[in-house]
Amino acid sequence: MSTTDTTALADAAQTRPGSEWWRTAVIYQIYPRSFADGNGDGIGDLPGITAHLDDLVALGVDAVWLSPFFRSPQHDAGYDVADYCDVDPLFGTLADADELIAQAHARDIRLIVDLVPNHSSNEHVWFQQALAAAPGSPERGRYMFRDGKGTAGELPPNNWESVFGGPAWTRVTEADGTPGQWYLHLFDSTQPDFDWSNPEVQEEFRRVLRFWLDRGVDGFRVDVAHGLVKTDGLPDHLPSVDGDSMGGDADDVPYWGQEGVHEIYRDWNRVLAEYDGDRALCAEAWLPTVDKTALWVRPDEMHQAFNFPYLMTQWHAPELREVISESLRAFPAVGAPATWVLSNHDVVRHASRLALTAENPQGHGIGPDSPGQPIPEVGLRRARAATTLMLALPGSSYLYQGEELGLPEVIELPDDVRQDPTWFRTDGERYGRDGCRVPLPWTPEAPAYGFNTTGASWLPQPAEWAGLARSVQEDQPDSTLWLYRSLLATRRAEGLGAGTLEWLPGYGDDVVALRNGDVTVIANAGTAAVPLPKGTVLVASGPLAGDDLPADTAVWLRTA
Ligand code: NOJ
Ligand code: CA
Repeated sequence: MSTTDTTALADAAQTRPGSEWWRTAVIYQIYPRSFADGNGDGIGDLPGITAHLDDLVALGVDAVWLSPFFRSPQHDAGYDVADYCDVDPLFGTLADADELIAQAHARDIRLIVDLVPNHSSNEHVWFQQALAAAPGSPERGRYMFRDGKGTAGELPPNNWESVFGGPAWTRVTEADGTPGQWYLHLFDSTQPDFDWSNPEVQEEFRRVLRFWLDRGVDGFRVDVAHGLVKTDGLPDHLPSVDGDSMGGDADDVPYWGQEGVHEIYRDWNRVLAEYDGDRALCAEAWLPTVDKTALWVRPDEMHQAFNFPYLMTQWHAPELREVISESLRAFPAVGAPATWVLSNHDVVRHASRLALTAENPQGHGIGPDSPGQPIPEVGLRRARAATTLMLALPGSSYLYQGEELGLPEVIELPDDVRQDPTWFRTDGERYGRDGCRVPLPWTPEAPAYGFNTTGASWLPQPAEWAGLARSVQEDQPDSTLWLYRSLLATRRAEGLGAGTLEWLPGYGDDVVALRNGDVTVIANAGTAAVPLPKGTVLVASGPLAGDDLPADTAVWLRTA
């Protein structure tokens, strides 16, 4: 069936068997350390977020996802959690978290938090107890400790590699000072993997879920949701491609997508169901296809899963039509909404990524020496068009802080300010993710462009960001901020999130043309302008050329 066949209706009706908010929500990701800094120490915090909630109301989002703010030594920017039930002093206090939840709810904004169940920090009390205990002890049994290979256990238990580069095993020194066992860490050596076959681990995470549900959060984004269970015997495996990164490209990776993970989410689904108010779980499961991703959102498992196949799709119309069609088939087939996402804190911002001319595997980042450098104007034009297309699609969409300002990836960060463990574990071979994590600009004249009042900033902001500051864009009707606001307002007014997609025939291969309800959407990913149908323009991602839609531009129309 051709994707431009009018009979090829991607019926999203099944995406709304109920009225649950998460089926259609636009969810804005806040990366707390880079959003707004309330106390001026150079790191964003919870009071900083609370102070800016009205800006999110003005933007028009339905919900916020907060990246981790829990107690952590910050070796992976908080994805190394030392205490799941406390706020790191860097970000504030539990009272600040309660206040943020209350203030968000007072504005009808839902709030989901990040849960990191694959691994803890090495400073978690359980891991400290495991180090102090003997091989084979119950304390070690909460993590993946194994004896090494070789005559004296001097070789790692298998050949697995860390997602951040280097081996996935680190050897410990036993209490008596002798070289000892090894522990598994799919990520940094400061992030030991839990053993999810251990009932104590399972019970602890039920407790963590309830702790935050009791405080009123609307759900959880679940980190590495495809990684918790490992194949018995931990057989050798090398990633098939260098870009394997967070997720498996291959089918048989012994640490990704194992059948056993699904039982964990069925269990969590039951925990959430004890609470009122449509609490939701969203899977961060980096899987190569939407069909595989849909396994995480079967009726008794999670509620949403990030659509990474969509995020990874180039600005290329045939591939976009294909991934959209597949998504609107595969997710509704299991009763779940399709989700859409273009940027997050792990990938090159889409205002740069969509104009790269060399492949850039997820998580590898770009820096001054990377091949295929983007032309900023092309990237921004495409990003605005891509977002205009995305926000017209039925289902739920995720936005990443700063994309509403059209922020590009910061490519020129000096080496000595980089902090991503990827950078260190690959000896600078991969730049990593710092370039998408630079603190936001709020006002042009203020210190750190209004990120705080002191000028401190954990990563330096480029001088050009003065011109991209939110307060500057407030006064510019052609700004990216205005575009996002009109897209979100129109999406809400037209009910696009709960709509149904119909492909429109008669456009060239380089064009994505569809209808959702009363709205016609045309996105031109080619190089030549295309004639537009007659109608009223509701929103356009850039200037039109008379009755034509220029290259790298998308439009929403009301046609006759
Ligand atoms: C995925 C998170 O999004 C990423 O930032 C983190 O480094 C890894 N999981 C490990 O927790
Ligand atoms: Ca701060």
